[in-house]
Amino acid sequence: MRVTALGPIENLEMIEVDSQPLRPGQVRIEILACGLNYVDSLFIEGKYQVKPPVPYHPGSEVVGRVTEAADDVTTLSVGQRVFAPVGSGGFSSEAVVAAARALPIPDSLTDGQGATFMQSYLTAWFAFTERMEVREGMTMLVLGAGGGIGLAAVDVGVALGMRVIAAASSEDKRRLALDRGAFATIDVLTEDVKVRTRELSGGGVDVVYDPVGGDLAEPSLRALAPGGIFMVIGFVGGIPRLPANFVLLQNRSVVGVDWGYWVGRNPEGNARMIREVLGAIGEGRLNPVEPRIYPMSRAVEAMNDLKNRKVAGKVALVPVWD
Ligand SMILES: NC(=O)c1ccc[n+]([C@@H]2O[C@H](COP(=O)([O-])OP(=O)(O)OC[C@H]3O[C@@H](n4cnc5c(N)ncnc54)[C@H](OP(=O)(O)O)[C@@H]3O)[C@@H](O)[C@H]2O)c1
Repeated sequence: MRVTALGPIENLEMIEVDSQPLRPGQVRIEILACGLNYVDSLFIEGKYQVKPPVPYHPGSEVVGRVTEAADDVTTLSVGQRVFAPVGSGGFSSEAVVAAARALPIPDSLTDGQGATFMQSYLTAWFAFTERMEVREGMTMLVLGAGGGIGLAAVDVGVALGMRVIAAASSEDKRRLALDRGAFATIDVLTEDVKVRTRELSGGGVDVVYDPVGGDLAEPSLRALAPGGIFMVIGFVGGIPRLPANFVLLQNRSVVGVDWGYWVGRNPEGNARMIREVLGAIGEGRLNPVEPRIYPMSRAVEAMNDLKNRKVAGKVALVPVWD
């Protein structure tokens, strides 16, 4: 699937192209599922900080089965199920990737889970290992905790020993966060986030993880404990203006987290993180959600459901053209 001009997501179209020949070191995979992320719609609309060149083929993370391997490939064999961070072009029935970038995935992981963990779990892993130092028993408020990025932060935060409060708008979303170990939840539609966070944490949280922004950012900043860290992750609710006086007071910090920028400069570090996260999933320490599945031909509907806050957890597309 592709767009030839950045703009409304309805511009997304299905096209048929010939299969690419394999070059040395490459494998061909039949795509079984592709993760759909909020940021895919931002790319298509031209609203992301970086504009992709057109024609643009969305879809950055896939699970597939190897159907062909170049003669020199020794690490993978035909029939193996692999995860591949393709970067773009995942909304497709087939991909050609460097064998070195395709990783066999644990049998315990479904196609949908394998195709939807990377962006959300790697962002959280990067945030908690490269952008701050996690201490056992820290308290953390996660906003958008039933969305892709937030839910992964709940899971990773709990696995690293944090006590997590999950803020979300629906019962379904809060349930997913509780299932991943959050000790309390806040209904963002009916409760005061600052007041409830302070009550639930016993005075203030050590960390706020914010993929939402908008009107939720300031009350969350004000719910930080002395020395607390506000992690800026995303802006689905709008880019907030944070009052500097509440950062100064009690020595708080605001920390930007830009996983994509870091990946561009640290591909090896990111490959190591993918292996670490896959290892933790294989050992059962992390539990990616089973995504809601849509046929690829309904990608626009899937994106609209995500943008309209109708999805609890993640979305994956499967190459079915109905
Ligand atoms: N910093 C990084 O390195 C990095 C990496 C990847 C993605 N991101 C960013 O993280 C953000 C979240 O992505 P995601 O994949 O988690 O998205 P998502 O799955 O759609 O979840 C976002 C959540 O935000 C909440 N929300 C509040 N106001 C909203 C609004 N006006 N529109 C839509 N959702 C709203 C919704 O939860 P409730 O209904 O519970 O309020 C929703 O579940 C995006 O901005 C993305 O670009 C950042």
